[in-house]
Amino acid sequence: MNREALMEATRRQMPERRWRHVLGVVATAEELAARFGGDREQVWLAALLHDYCKAWPVDRMETIIREQGLPAELLEYDKELWHAHVGAWAVREELGIRDEAVLDAIRYHTSGRENMTLLDKIVCLADYMEPGRDFPGVHKIRELANHSLEEALVAGFDSTISFLLEKGKTIFPLTVLARNDLIRTIEKRTQKS
Ligand SMILES: [Fe+2]
Ligand SMILES: [Fe+2]
Repeated sequence: MNREALMEATRRQMPERRWRHVLGVVATAEELAARFGGDREQVWLAALLHDYCKAWPVDRMETIIREQGLPAELLEYDKELWHAHVGAWAVREELGIRDEAVLDAIRYHTSGRENMTLLDKIVCLADYMEPGRDFPGVHKIRELANHSLEEALVAGFDSTISFLLEKGKTIFPLTVLARNDLIRTIEKRTQKS
């Protein structure tokens, strides 16, 4: 599929408002790649497809998780997490995307994970800070992103975790592991300099 066909296939999955968010994530991810590196084609693709099935009905996602062997543990956590794993499955099945690095960036864009790749970090951070985003702390995230992907991402995960704490919700363990890992990376870098 060429770029235009991929964009059209993606746009069809979601309402206009979500599509504007996706375009914001693509533009922001491209800016981050210009600043920090990263394969431009992979960045474009993963950013475009990251929310492929965000607007799908919850029961459709649940069925896919159960029937396609996706991690059943997801069902015990917030539904917000489901579209990331289901999305990676769906773009492979429906659009023929085979690049595992791109699929991983989609799969972990909401939760993060340990040892995040440059591509994972760019997509996850762009999702937090694209121009349409407005939540407490987003300005700080954008400011940190001027010099450090890792520091900006930690601020992003902090905002997610604080929100979940405030709401009395469970926290997906991978997000805590991702945050710990990023903090260690930052600490090592500070010790060296
Ligand atoms: Fe998402
Ligand atoms: Fe998103």
